[in-house]
Amino acid sequence: MHQVSQPGSIVVLTGAGISKESGLDTFRDRDGLWARVRIEDVATPEGYRRDPQRVQAFYNARRRELSEGGVEPNPAHLALARLEREWPGEVLVVTQNIDDLHERAGSSRLIHMHGELLKVRCVRCARPLPWAADIEATSLCPECGRADVLRPHVVWFGEVPLEMDRILSALERCFLFVSIGTSGHVYPAAGFVAAVRDAGRARAVELNLEPSHGASLFHEVRTGPASVLVPAFVEEVLTSGAAF
Ligand code: APR
Repeated sequence: MHQVSQPGSIVVLTGAGISKESGLDTFRDRDGLWARVRIEDVATPEGYRRDPQRVQAFYNARRRELSEGGVEPNPAHLALARLEREWPGEVLVVTQNIDDLHERAGSSRLIHMHGELLKVRCVRCARPLPWAADIEATSLCPECGRADVLRPHVVWFGEVPLEMDRILSALERCFLFVSIGTSGHVYPAAGFVAAVRDAGRARAVELNLEPSHGASLFHEVRTGPASVLVPAFVEEVLTSGAAF
């Protein structure tokens, strides 16, 4: 019986750079978020315990920016949704981003490893719940009805990223790993390319405005804006198929 080779699976890692051309800030660029606020103050459990209002205000402003319109998926997000639709094998997008631009572009096989800005988590019920408004101390948990218990459903430094088992299994199996718009400074995402290289199966490609911290680990690095690189790359993958 002729063994029909299954089309390989593709894993795409995205970072803040893919949403930059949609108007959202990155973190470590000169004009990035961490040039304006300190990680310790707004993106750690200690910062939240020290001054919850300050942390809520930081995420309320980012949530308003995302939900009050004007921020739309760009051609890079749309190209990844096209890849999921048209590639015959599995395509999984693993994003470090907490915006909803991949969903709005049409990607459905998606993991938000650092959580989601448009969800909250009750410190009592621990369940993530959709939430587009500001979080106030008076905001009531829809599940348990208590006030002053809602925090952003965002993974802070020192907390455990989400769905790591599923991510590592996908990295192990894929034949193509693409990293887009991430500086390669924050683990575990920064270690994904090494995991792929260790598995010895996949081709690793980086699409970034400039070579990332981990660029030397990739088989190929293309530099430029994601809105230009990603649609061209997706077209190449779809036209060359598994021979890519
Ligand atoms: N197209 C492609 N890449 C871009 C663009 C663009 N238009 N603009 C910027 N970049 C690149 C930058 O060169 C940089 O390498 O995107 C990368 C953004 O890097 P960071 O700001 O460090 O963002 P990211 O890698 O996503 O950060 C990872 O760190 O602070 C935590 O939780 C936060 O998820 C975040 C994580």
